[in-house]
Amino acid sequence: MSDVTIKIAKNGPLLISEEVEVVDMDSGDKLAIDKFPIALCRCGQSGNKPFCDGTHSKVGFDGSLA
Ligand code: FES
Repeated sequence: MSDVTIKIAKNGPLLISEEVEVVDMDSGDKLAIDKFPIALCRCGQSGNKPFCDGTHSKVGFDGSLA
């Protein structure tokens, strides 16, 4: 089992506190990350994908899991 924990923010992003690599699946390029935690967009509306830029709160994203 992995040591990485991904937390799901209510109506917001996926939060990753531990150091991880984020890699473009097609190119294999690693995305530059200068600090942790990182927040990965879950709403699809970020202007800085795959990272969250806070837009989820402006668009009223409903992140209900069920
Ligand atoms: S989850 Fe924050 S911009 Fe998408």
